[in-house]
This record gives sequence, C-alpha cells and structure tokens, in this order.
Amino acid sequence: MSDTSPFNLRPARLTDAERIFTLIRQHPDELVPKPMGDIVAIIDRFVVAEVEGEIVGCATYSILPEIGTAERATVELQSVAVGAAHRRLGIGRALVERLLERIAAFEPAEALVLTFAPGFFAKLGFSEIPKSKVMHKLYSGCLHCTKHADPFTCPEIAMAKKLKGERVSG
Ligand SMILES: CC(C)(COP(=O)(O)OP(=O)(O)OC[C@H]1O[C@@H](n2cnc3c(N)ncnc32)[C@H](O)[C@@H]1OP(=O)(O)O)[C@@H](O)C(=O)NCCC(=O)NCCS
Repeated sequence: MSDTSPFNLRPARLTDAERIFTLIRQHPDELVPKPMGDIVAIIDRFVVAEVEGEIVGCATYSILPEIGTAERATVELQSVAVGAAHRRLGIGRALVERLLERIAAFEPAEALVLTFAPGFFAKLGFSEIPKSKVMHKLYSGCLHCTKHADPFTCPEIAMAKKLKGERVSG
C-alpha cells in the first residue's frame, strides 16, 4: 500500500476482535453475527482495513470441507463489511482481493459467498450459482442459521468464482 492510499490493509490482531465484532453487528440484515469467541478463535483468518488508524472494514473466510474430493475444495468468504462512511472507495474490493490472494496458497477450486450484495461480488468476478449445487458444502452453516428456517427460501444469493482449472461446483 502506498503512503498516499486513503486506507491500509493488514492482518487482524487479537486486539482488533472487539472492533470486528462491532463492525459485523452493525450489519444485522446482511451479515451472520459472529460471537466474540469465534472471532478471537479465527482472528488469523481476518484481514482488516484501516483509515487513519481506525478499523473501517473486515473480511474473513472459512474452508468448506468436501471429504474425498480434495481437488474440489472450496473456500467461503464471510463477514465482508465496510463501514457506511467509507464505502465506494475500493476498500471492499481490496479486502476481498487480499483474501483471495491469501487463500490461493491453499489451491482451492473456487471461492463461494452468500450475499445480499451480488452487484459488488459480480464486479469482483463472482457469478450467481444455484444454492442447490453447493448446499452440501454450505449446509453446516445453514444448520446453525437463526434467521431463516430453510436455506432455499433464504434470500441470500450464492455466488462463486473459479480459482483454478475448469472445475465447477456441484
Ligand atoms: C458490499 C460492501 C462490502 C462493498 O464495500 P465497498 O468498499 O463499498 O466496495 P468497493 O468500493 O470496493 O466497490 C467495488 C466495486 O463494487 C461496486 N459496488 C460496491 N457496493 C456495491 C453494491 N452494493 N452493489 C453493486 N455494486 C457495488 C463499486 O461501485 C465498485 O465498482 P467499480 O470497481 O466499477 O468502481 C459494503 O457495501 C458493505 O459492507 N455492505 C454491508 C455488508 C455486506 O453486504 N457485505 C457483503 C456480504 S458478505
């Protein structure tokens, strides 16, 4: 990041957990809340964006296991949030691109996201996919959802971005 950039990305620190917790909680309609304990436990998977030393954005990921078909392993992007006062400055894009760089080291087949902001993820190369094609990968998250009883009537849109080769979800 250059000295003139309006924001700075960095790996999250344990001392950032409370700010990340608050940022996620500020978006109850778009993001699944994360307990503090979970945030602390996976702090090494968060990237944060700072403006003038204050955290204004965060993003993390979760590996979705698919036993027996390791070559099709998928990573779900989660908790992608930018504070309302700092949107449309490229921070969300930078957070997602940083996570995609980070997870590339694991060579997953694709990245998935469940989102209410499909236009944003489309700009980053994600395409809408039927939830039914990835439900076997997402079901453990859906099992613990407290917002919607049925993942197929849940209004979140599933989107995927291929990260290597020609493999597809399903
Ligand atoms: C979605 C969100 C992360 C976008 O963050 P942001 O910092 O404003 O996004 P950026 O400025 O990096 O935008 C990147 C591109 O996406 C576009 N974009 C941003 N938000 C968009 C939206 N809601 N719908 C359509 N396009 C959008 C931008 O115009 C930009 O396009 P460009 O590259 O052609 O200029 C932010 O609005 C947010 O935190 N929303 C609430 C939480 C949420 O919905 N998170 C996603 C679910 S995981």
